[in-house]
Amino acid sequence: MDYRLPKQDINTEPFMRQSPRYNRKDVFMRTDKAYKCEITNIVELTPTEKLFHLKILSDQERRIFEFRPGQFVMLEVPGFGEVPISLSSSSNNSEYVELCVRKSGRTTNMLHRAKTGAKLGIRGPFGTSFPMEKMAGHNILLVAGGLGLAPLRAPINWVSEYRDEYKDVHILYGTKDPDQMLFTYQYEEWQKVDHIKLLTIVEKANKDWNGRTGMITDLFKDIDIKPDDTFAIVCGPPVMFKFVCDHLDGLGIPMNRMFVSLERRMHCGMGKCCRCMVGSTFTCVDGPVFDYWSVLNLKEAI
Ligand SMILES: Cc1cc2nc3c(=O)[nH]c(=O)nc-3n(C[C@H](O)[C@H](O)[C@H](O)COP(=O)(O)OP(=O)(O)OC[C@H]3O[C@@H](n4cnc5c(N)ncnc54)[C@H](O)[C@@H]3O)c2cc1C
Ligand code: FES
Repeated sequence: MDYRLPKQDINTEPFMRQSPRYNRKDVFMRTDKAYKCEITNIVELTPTEKLFHLKILSDQERRIFEFRPGQFVMLEVPGFGEVPISLSSSSNNSEYVELCVRKSGRTTNMLHRAKTGAKLGIRGPFGTSFPMEKMAGHNILLVAGGLGLAPLRAPINWVSEYRDEYKDVHILYGTKDPDQMLFTYQYEEWQKVDHIKLLTIVEKANKDWNGRTGMITDLFKDIDIKPDDTFAIVCGPPVMFKFVCDHLDGLGIPMNRMFVSLERRMHCGMGKCCRCMVGSTFTCVDGPVFDYWSVLNLKEAI
């Protein structure tokens, strides 16, 4: 008998045919685009983190590149690899994008050796974003631990640019020690120009530190949180955001009004390789931004 497997033409699959311009939650994205970029500026933030300004080379492509706070790009260091990195700049900056990268492995170490003028590639933007419009008219609590200030900087920029649309805005930022603090040169600007209250804390002080010492949740005692009128965005390692979100839950903020960003190893960034799956959820398209209630319902998410 002649058994034949049914013919499979992947190009006729509905998922492959449609250009995935919108992700499942209808958040704007252009997963089909890749852009050639040049490093135009490098800011050394700490011994392990640098901020890269990347300018998309083509004028036309630069004009169409748009993203929302919380989204990420796949950054290619030619010949070494491609890594997911959160967009850290303002969504309204059409001149260049800013990516804050920690030196951690092969690709990011290579990137840290790059000089201005080096050519790189980005694909994206990918993923879900923080619901900035939904938060309008409410108090905003932005909480970051360590490198978590990198993804949080995009919503901070957004809130600064549309400051009148939000009530009280607090940024709480904690690191292990003062040397690990990112974007210190912007703290004054955020507080003075934009009337955003910033509170910082370190776990272990050094001789130059005269601020607060302790855990990030210690800062909650210093602010007046109105649970029924507050949205929270929490970025940092899972152990930190779990600790913070559980604390906020205790204060009465509903879990579906707290947003976190999940990190998983990624390869395609567009729901095809299954590398980033948590259960049946793709972190790259269904996330990385989730509300905390969804995270708790995702098995093995944290
Ligand atoms: C949505 C998303 C946004 C991210 N945003 C940023 C950012 O703004 N800035 C930044 O510096 N990093 C960010 N990361 C983490 C970054 O992608 C990894 O540090 C990077 O992929 C490491 O690549 P590498 O080749 O240098 O290291 P590798 O040699 O691949 O790995 C080095 C170390 O990093 C760990 N690692 C690798 N990939 C990840 C990952 N996806 N998440 C967590 N740990 C990982 C490995 O377990 C290993 O311990 C983000 C990750 C995701 C998924
Ligand atoms: S990274 Fe490939 S499916 Fe998410």
